[in-house]
Amino acid sequence: MASPVAIVTGASRGIGRHIALALARDGMDVVCAARSTREAPSKLPGTIEKTASEVEALGQRALAVPCDIRQEDQVAELVRRAAEELGRIDVLVNNAAVVAPAPFSEITAKRWDLMLDVNLGGTVLCTRAVLPTMLEQGSGRIINVSSGAVTDPKLAAQLGIISYAVSKAAVEALTTALAAELEASGIAVNCLRIESAIATEGAKLADPGVETEWEQPETAADAVRWLAARDTSYTGHIVTMEEARAAEARDAQP
Ligand SMILES: NC(=O)c1ccc[n+]([C@@H]2O[C@H](COP(=O)([O-])OP(=O)(O)OC[C@H]3O[C@@H](n4cnc5c(N)ncnc54)[C@H](OP(=O)(O)O)[C@@H]3O)[C@@H](O)[C@H]2O)c1
Repeated sequence: MASPVAIVTGASRGIGRHIALALARDGMDVVCAARSTREAPSKLPGTIEKTASEVEALGQRALAVPCDIRQEDQVAELVRRAAEELGRIDVLVNNAAVVAPAPFSEITAKRWDLMLDVNLGGTVLCTRAVLPTMLEQGSGRIINVSSGAVTDPKLAAQLGIISYAVSKAAVEALTTALAAELEASGIAVNCLRIESAIATEGAKLADPGVETEWEQPETAADAVRWLAARDTSYTGHIVTMEEARAAEARDAQP
């Protein structure tokens, strides 16, 4: 039987790379999407081809599809290739995001728009693009990623990431409302709210001086893996990593 297929955005590095690997370990084929490619790498490490080859090394099929999630045509091509080349789309993980700190009083309109365009706009475009396939299948799981900045306004202000917090609050609102709209469709929509600092290239670049206890990206990937394994009746939830860990431990009890 063919493996389930997951699309992971922001799979070139950081948490997204680890989500791709965790889902592959759970037996999924993975479509790795982001902008950094072998031909056009970023200054930061990681490319979609590298993650895709790591997925293949775990025995699953992988596709590396270059995609700027702000561009509707590129998102359409991502979804077209996933459905045509791997046959179906079972999971979409809307992980890609940017954070570019600046105090609210100084933030330019361009920087504000960037945060909203990638973090919210990209999530909306990718979600809309997979829906026809998932609706036709009568099943699917959409997993969004938000941040503790949503529930900790002082932290958001202190780190100069109000625009980021606003974009992630909107992602959470999208999650619960879309889950309600899709309730009878067999498509689950949930969100992982990452409340701790995860040691990734992006996070360390955004907060170079921050003294904090960094958690490893594998822990966030495990929580996404747990969400991807829920029945589709489990929908409309905003889950923290701690809640996912506790639920997983409960599930593991005999
Ligand atoms: N790390 C933390 O402490 C933390 C805490 C709370 C929440 N989160 C959330 O966790 C998720 C992953 O964070 P991370 O720390 O792994 O970030 P990261 O290391 O900066 O990685 C971000 C990923 O998003 C991709 N990306 C950025 N803009 C894109 C665009 N326009 N189109 C397509 N891909 C794009 C990047 O790839 P390219 O550059 O190759 O496009 C990269 O793969 C994000 O949603 C973030 O908000 C992280």
